[in-house]
Amino acid sequence: MAIADNKRGTSLTPSELDRLSALCRDAVGALREVFQEIGNGIIPPAEPLMDRVRALAGGVLKDPASLLQLDPTREDDGYTFRHSVSVGFLALALAASLGHDAEQVAQCGLAGFLHDIGKTRVDLCILDKPGKLSGDEVLEMQKHAEYGAEIVRGMAGVPASVVEAVLAHHVRFDRTGYPESARTLCLGIPCAVVAVADFYDATTTLRTYQRPMLRDEAVEALRRARGTVLDGSIVEGFLELTDGGV
Ligand SMILES: [Fe+2]
Repeated sequence: MAIADNKRGTSLTPSELDRLSALCRDAVGALREVFQEIGNGIIPPAEPLMDRVRALAGGVLKDPASLLQLDPTREDDGYTFRHSVSVGFLALALAASLGHDAEQVAQCGLAGFLHDIGKTRVDLCILDKPGKLSGDEVLEMQKHAEYGAEIVRGMAGVPASVVEAVLAHHVRFDRTGYPESARTLCLGIPCAVVAVADFYDATTTLRTYQRPMLRDEAVEALRRARGTVLDGSIVEGFLELTDGGV
């Protein structure tokens, strides 16, 4: 998992860090069950996961960067799941560091955890293909945003802002990107926060078709993306959170 470097350490006491770690394990365990059920064709209610994400959001407010030290994923978790956990943690920490309240932080976290859930409906031959995708394969891959929105709309208890973030996390700040139908939506904080977290994690993680960027390269790419791909104020908050200050 390519969680951002956290050079600041933590201001949490050992017992607070233990509690945060337990909250992480609970939330990631609940997310794993959601992925498994959806993979088996069942759309579960979101409340058990959302309850755990709300508890985690409450635990992250005191020292958001502490969350970036924790990695409760397992060796046998697949790339999409590990990426989803990373983006969820980054989104929780970023939203908390930007000063949002616990409910907004929780919605950002849930949006991060579920942003790529639509990839469970994309053929593995496309998802895991080494090398360049064909035009049709790119179009199918891009449908994960709409597939995901359809899935989360069916999960009882998912806030509207999370559905919107799942649908529109590839709509850029300059209103290009996909799906085209989401470009004119009035997008909220969870979508903008998840877009930054997703951009960072996707560029710093090893995948079949891409060597991961070094942190300095990723920070440079984030800086270049301000105001075009990503919301600049949220990028600056991210760089501050991860000690990459602008
Ligand atoms: Fe995505």
